[in-house]
Parts: sequence; structure tokens; C-alpha cells
Amino acid sequence: MYPRRYCSVWPHRGIYYVNNPPDSLTLCTLGIGTAFGDGVLNNSPHTATVITNEHCELLRIEQRDFQELWERNPHLMEDIVSPLNTVRSLTDLHRRGEKKDTNGTSRNLPPSNKHPEPSSPEARNPALPITQEPSAKLRRAGKVLRTMIFSHAPHLIRDRKYHMKTIRRCLVGTEMVDWLLQQAIGGAVRIHSRAQAIGMWQALLEEGVISHVSQEYQFKDKHLFYRFREDQDGVGTTPSQDDRHLAEKEFQESLTVLLQLSPEAILRTIIRKPPEDRTADDIEVIFEELLHIKALSHLSNSVKRELAGVLFFESHLRTGTVLFNQGDEGTSWYIILRGSVDVVIYGKGVVCTLHEGDDFGKLALVNDAPRAATIVTREDNCHFLRVDKIDFNRILRDAEANTVRLKEHGQDVLLLQKILTDVRGVEGSHCHYNGCLYPSLGFYTFPIGSLVSSKFRLVTRYAVMAGTPQKMLEHLLETRIDIRVEDGTGPLTYSKDTFLEDFLLTHVIFMPSHQLCPELMKHYKVDSANSRHEKEFIVANKRRAVQFVHTWAIVVREAFFEDPIICSFLDDLQALLLKDFELYVGDLQMEVKLLAKMIDAKQRFQVDLASSASQRWKISNSGQLERLTSSGSAEEDEDEDRQPIKSTDEIIFRVYRADQTYTTLKTPTAATAETIKRSAADKLGLKDDVLLVEVRSTGEKVPFKDAEVSVPTGLSVNGKIFVCTADQIDSLRPLPEQEGPSEGTGDVLETFSSHDLAHQMSLYDWELFTVVHEYELTYQVFGRHQFRKSMSNLDVFLRRFNELQFWVVTELCLASSLSRRVQLLRKFIKVAAYCRDYQNLNAFFAIVMGLSNVAVSRMSQTWERLPGKLRKLYADFEALIDPSRNHRRYRIIVAKLAPPIIPFMPLLLKDMTFSHEGNKTYLEGLVNFEKMHMIAQTLRTLRYCRSQVLALEPPPISKVQQEVREYIRNIKVIDNQRRLTQLSNTLEPRRPC
Ligand code: CMP
Repeated sequence: MYPRRYCSVWPHRGIYYVNNPPDSLTLCTLGIGTAFGDGVLNNSPHTATVITNEHCELLRIEQRDFQELWERNPHLMEDIVSPLNTVRSLTDLHRRGEKKDTNGTSRNLPPSNKHPEPSSPEARNPALPITQEPSAKLRRAGKVLRTMIFSHAPHLIRDRKYHMKTIRRCLVGTEMVDWLLQQAIGGAVRIHSRAQAIGMWQALLEEGVISHVSQEYQFKDKHLFYRFREDQDGVGTTPSQDDRHLAEKEFQESLTVLLQLSPEAILRTIIRKPPEDRTADDIEVIFEELLHIKALSHLSNSVKRELAGVLFFESHLRTGTVLFNQGDEGTSWYIILRGSVDVVIYGKGVVCTLHEGDDFGKLALVNDAPRAATIVTREDNCHFLRVDKIDFNRILRDAEANTVRLKEHGQDVLLLQKILTDVRGVEGSHCHYNGCLYPSLGFYTFPIGSLVSSKFRLVTRYAVMAGTPQKMLEHLLETRIDIRVEDGTGPLTYSKDTFLEDFLLTHVIFMPSHQLCPELMKHYKVDSANSRHEKEFIVANKRRAVQFVHTWAIVVREAFFEDPIICSFLDDLQALLLKDFELYVGDLQMEVKLLAKMIDAKQRFQVDLASSASQRWKISNSGQLERLTSSGSAEEDEDEDRQPIKSTDEIIFRVYRADQTYTTLKTPTAATAETIKRSAADKLGLKDDVLLVEVRSTGEKVPFKDAEVSVPTGLSVNGKIFVCTADQIDSLRPLPEQEGPSEGTGDVLETFSSHDLAHQMSLYDWELFTVVHEYELTYQVFGRHQFRKSMSNLDVFLRRFNELQFWVVTELCLASSLSRRVQLLRKFIKVAAYCRDYQNLNAFFAIVMGLSNVAVSRMSQTWERLPGKLRKLYADFEALIDPSRNHRRYRIIVAKLAPPIIPFMPLLLKDMTFSHEGNKTYLEGLVNFEKMHMIAQTLRTLRYCRSQVLALEPPPISKVQQEVREYIRNIKVIDNQRRLTQLSNTLEPRRPC
């Protein structure tokens, strides 16, 4: 059929498929009256294979004759061969792996498993109507015009011969324009220009009242053939006499209607032109139109003008047309020009409706994420302006509105704000659409920020400011679960993006596990929640849910496996995943492995838990927390890592009566004050209406709230728990032992080197610090009584800070000789210096704050004897702990340190308290995620400080190391400031002025 290059052929009868080997993609189907093979004009090779579809008869023209014909009648020939040019350019682009829509934009072809957004054929071909049926108004106007032509210029509608073909009852574009202009002369309706008349005919063509005979051209003031709708399928009826009378009457009105519609029709013609065909005037016309569009009102005029050159018109005739599906790759942004659309989310249904002037579809573009919703037209004849991704990114991404509000059922559900962020990774890789996973399956690899790439680029994107917990989770799963593309190129990684981590660190505040787990399960069970059975979409959702859980486990660690709700959720998830693994063969392999690792870790954790079920703690008489072995003795195994105190661990402590007799209780660490009070009252034979009170060494009494947890660990350094009736509270007195030591340990301290002391202190502080869970800080700041979870590890660490402070003061105030005090002062300054070098800033602060305690700072005789060098060092230390400008000096220094660091914990808590008290947790029903971000920022500092294991340079081996170790773990102090000041006054009485 197509062996040689010498002809151009018109199908005379039958149908041809134009195929592009080798993949045999059908490019188009040609019918009677069309031509192909015009490559002979410029001697280029054929770009497609043409295959007959049925018995065909063709007319063949030799190359020489065809070229001659072309040269003589180019204006006629152009219209005949142009469809083939389109086919050819498509073929070329397919060869290059690109797709070009007929609007002229080219973009990378999406992989076959993706869902390119359909562009409506009506929009692409300006000859096709943009409404399914003509409106009654235009139908009537068309009928009137046809009747009037029949009455007054019947020769305009006639059969015409064209290329051996008879075209029935058609009109010529130029004659139609002439006729309209004539009709307006002297009439009530004034048509000022040919352009106006063209617009009037175009208005009829857009709604299918007239059409180009072969549906190739919009209305043109040219020698092109058009036909009325009535004459399309053969010859329509000739108007009756009555029709003619009526048409005469309605003619002026019909012209008025058409004249009104003309500018819009012209505008649409311009917008429907491929961008490269738009003239400067066209762009100006579009620009002026854009000035009135709500969705663009925030953009500058220069951005609008740029947009005018790139946007496409898109129309959809039928209600229920899907513009794109949730989960699809985002390729365009849309503005509604006419009509409305429903926003549909799986498992939720229609969440909102968008109307004329609204826009949609930019989230996926800005966040490089899949579509967050499906968009469906909710009426016939919807018109859109469309900006494709490549243009969006070039023109709009940075100019986009600062905030985006997503609504569901009329309520705000997500508030996003534009931020500038740097991005690393391979440009143009679409991380969310292909196979997955993190580079390592290692259970403790943390995916965020773990990909190192030299490519950095600043981009704008949207960060969550507020949202409902459910919507934030949905958004997180869609936009932040990092996925690696299979070809090995890295995904885009937002290096500063912490949304996922922030969410996981703070979810206990707004979405505890009993809410988060079922919501995650809903996302996992995406296949049961909707009727769309696209494997790729379903599998992608399941993957994301599993990967989320994996990241959750990594970020939250023990608290994750300690939570029975999460554990049973993991089991359920695994059961479902294994079934799905069989169903979606070969697709969820990585996730099965991931989950198996998590289950394994969970089981290990549970075994540990069972074996340490007897993990018990005891508050010693001096207030120290000791771990008890199964035999009941205080544990001392240097090699064993310190275990965190769990909510379920038991703790043994004393509760005193007003008469200072006591009972020993054993409760879980997370037992409430109420429970402790009840069991103490029972054991001590007290009646109801008792109070649980902390009595401090100062004599101060602080009653516990019933809901408070971690009671025994939350006491002040020498505090004790009392239970008494309300009328006994005033009579409570501290126990003698609460006073603390009456003799200092100066002589022992003298035998220890400062270096040894700082080293052992830092090892111990590190132990205490690393077992503090981030959640404990949240519990502490948001209210100890609110979460009913143990905070004992944090209590112990904070207590340690106070203990060290009072230790310094106590030792100096109990050193009766001046020389001992000077010696101690020197020692403490040196210990502080070593602590600073070890990056144990908690102890450093404690010591320096102890030295600046008034009971010490007032000992002028002692300070006077301090060598100048040490005095200068101490002055530097004081500057470092200076709280002015929100501890600026300290913050600057600590920002430069690399982990491991033991931070000044009270400042972290102060920061969190400040974030908490200065910001509401909920704003108009939405979680204030900015606040969560601030909270998480502090928690992240904590994570950073311990992100490396401690490896301290030890001091030169000394014989007393073990004693030093014992000493610093059993410090006894006076924590009564009044007493300390008294002691100080006795040692160095105030000098007479
Ligand atoms: P995108 O994710 O690109 O595609 C779907 C679009 O629906 C989304 O961008 C938003 O522009 C729009 N949309 C409107 N309301 C919502 C909503 N409540 N949730 C998600 N998307 C919405």
C-alpha cells in the first residue's frame, strides 16, 4: 500500500489507520476525503505506516503532479494537508519520547503506568463545539439566521463541488461575514467590523449551531465551507412561510444576542490558539481578561501577562467528567472559567465544590506530590484555563499566593503557607509515582535528610500551618513519605522539611495513638474504601501507610513499642499486608520486609519487657533513685546500659504520716497521686478525705493533684511524700534527714582530680540524659496530669541538675576552713571547665550556677584568694550562663558544637514552655501546627544532641576512679537555701560597712 515515495493519496472509500511502528500506536484514523503521504512535497521519508482497515479505493497522485498542484494552489492545498502535518509532528515527538498535544506544548511523556491528565478534544480542536448541545438562545439565533438567508440570499446556501466531492448546502466563510455586515446596515443593530461578525459566527460555531464541513477550523473569514446544524446530515428542511415570518420578527433580537456573545467567542478563539501562534495583540486580549479572574487577583500584572502567553483553554461537555484522579501525577493547574467541579477524596466522597473563579490542582505541582483529590465536573459545558506544570513552575511557583486554605464541607481543614526551601536531589524526578523505598532497610536508618546530594535548589512550596489531624495525616502521606525511584536517581528531598518528624514528635498532643492508628488503617485499606480498583494507586497508598509506620517507629523508638495500641495495630497491619502481598503479586515485597522487621523489633522489645518485668526502682532515703535487682539489692553493674524507667515499672518509696511514721509502697511509676494516696491511706489506716503532699526541706508543703503521675520521682531534691488529713497539713514538718548533711566531703574531694570528677559526672549525666524520651518533655510542659504517662526519666535528669547546683553550695558552706573553701572553689571551677570541654553543659551550668548562688558568691574572703587566672575563667563562665537576651551567649556557643552534647535541659524546657504558653494549641478548630513545629524544634535539638554516641577522652588512669564514680552517683546535699545562707554567714560573717 505504501511502498514508494512517489505519491500522495486520498482515501476515496474506506478507512485507514496511520500507525507508528514498532509499537503500532495508532496516531489517527483517516476517512473519506482526507489525504496522506504529503511528505513527498519535501522529499522527506514517510514518518508513519498506513494500513487499510477495510476495502478501500484511493486516488493516487504522482509526486511530480502533486508538487505542481501545490505550487499553483498553495492556499487551497494547505487546508487539505494540514491534518497530516499534525500527525507527522506527533510521530516525530513520539520518536523522541515526548508528547506534544496539539496546542503545541511538549512535555516528557509520562511512563505508561501514569495517568496523564486528559485534555478535552474540544479544547484542542477549535473547530469542535465546546458545549454538548447548543443553548436554546443560540439554537434559536441560528435558526433565525438560516431562515433569513433562505429568504433573502438563498444562493449563499448551496451544494458546492470541492475536490471531486459535493458538499451539500454549505456556505462560504467570507460570504457569511459579508452577509451579516450587510444586514446590519440601517438596522437597529450595528456591527462595526468584520471581526465582530466573525465573532458572531464563531459564537454559533462554538455551540455547534454551525460547523466547518470537516470540523477542522474555527470560524474563519476565508474560503472555507460551513454548514448549519440542520443541514449536517444531508439536506435539512427548507423553512416554511411561518418560519420566515417569525424569523423576520426575531432577526434583530438574534443579531443582538450574537453581537453580545461575539467578544467572548473571539476571546475563546484566541485562547484556543496554540501559544506559539498567539500574536502580541492576542496576548494583550487574554491579559485583559485575566485581570478579572479571582484566582489570579494576587498575582502581579507581569505574571499575568506571562500567563497570557502560555495558558490553554479546556472545556468539558459533560457533567461527571473526571479531569484527573486522586493519586495521579499533577501536570497542570486549573482555573474555572465557567461551571463548577466537585473535589472528591477516596473514603470521603465529595468534600467540596469549586465554582467560577476558583482554582485547583496546584498542590501536586508545588509539593511534587500526587493529586490530593479527584476533580469531576458537576455540570455540562465546564470551561477551564489550564497552566501546564512546566509553565507553572517557571512563572507561578514563586509568585503563588502566600496561603492556601483547603475546605471540606464548608469547613477549613488545612491551612498551608508558602515557604522558601532548598531542595536536593535529581531535578525532575517524580518521587511519588514509582516503586519505592529508602536506600537502606536497616531498621534504624532515618530517611529524612539522609540522602546526600550535591544538587541544591531553592524552591517555594507549601508548609502546613494548621489543620485537622486527619487532613494533616492525609497530606503527610501524600506529600512527605519519601520514595526512591527505581532507576536509582534520588528523590527530591526537602532538606529543611520537618513536617513528618514534627508530626511524629508531637502527635501525642493532638492525635494520640488510639486515633492515629485507626486513621492510618483507613489509609491502608484504601481498596475497601472506594470502588476505584487501580492497582498502582492502591499499592502506592498501602506503601505509604507502611512507610509512615516505619518512620514512626524510628522517630519514637521505645515509646512506640511500649504502646499496646500501636502493637496490636502492627499485628493487624501485618496480617493485612501478607494477604495483600499475595493479591498484588510482587508489589509490596519491601513493605513486607519492613513490617517484619518492625514486628521483630516489637517482639524483642516485649521479650525484654517480660524479662525485666521485675524491673523495680527504689527511692533511697537520701532521695536517689536506685534500680533493684531481682534479689532486691540496689543494682551496680557498670557494663549494663541504663534502662529507661517505663510506665509499667514498679517503684518503691516511703509515704509518711503527719507523725513521721511511714509505710513503704510499691506502685507502677505511672500511678496517679490518687492511687498512691488511696493505698497509703489504706495501709496507714487513714480515713477518706486525705491529701497527698510533698513536704520540702524548707517546710514548704505542696499538695499533689489527683491526676498527677510520676509522683515519687517528681519530688524536690530532699522532698518527701506525706499523706494526711486536710486539718493536719499545717502541722507537717520535714524529717530531720531532709536537712541534708551536716559535714562536707571536702577531704574526700581533695583526693579526686577535677578531671576524674568531670569525666565520671559526664558519663553519669549522659546515662541519665539518653534515657529521657522526647515525649516526657511534652508531658512536662503540657501538664504532668494530662497524659498519664511516666515522666520519671526526665524527673531524674532535672533533679540531677538541682542536686549538682546544691552540691557545690553545700560543700562550700560546710567547709569550715578558709583554705578548704578556696581549694574547693578552685576545684569546682576546674570541674566546670572540664565539663564544658566534655560538652556536658547541663553540669557546667549547674556548677557555675551553684558558684553564683548567693551563699557562695557572698564569701568574699574565699573569692579574694582565688588566683587571677581562675577568677578570669570564672568570669568567662558567668558570661556564658548570662540569661540576658534569652541566653544568647550560650545559644551561639552551643549552635557551633557537634554532638554528643548534654544540653542545659532547663533552657530546653523553658523554650518549650514559652512555645506552649505563647501559642494556642487549636485555632478555630484546627491544630495550630506552627506551634507543633516550635515544640518539635526543641525536641529536635534534644535528638541532635544525642545523635552520636558518647566517646569521652578519659583522664589519665587514676586509682580512685571507682570511688569517684560512686561519689558522684551518691551526692548528698542541703537544698534549703535559707540554711545554706545561714551557714555561709556563719563562716564568713558580713563585714561591717
Ligand atoms: P492537587 O492535589 O494538585 O489536585 C487536587 C486539588 O483539589 C488540590 O490540588 C486542591 O487544589 C484541590 N482541593 C480543594 N479542596 C481540597 C481538599 N479539601 N483536599 C484536597 N484537595 C483539595
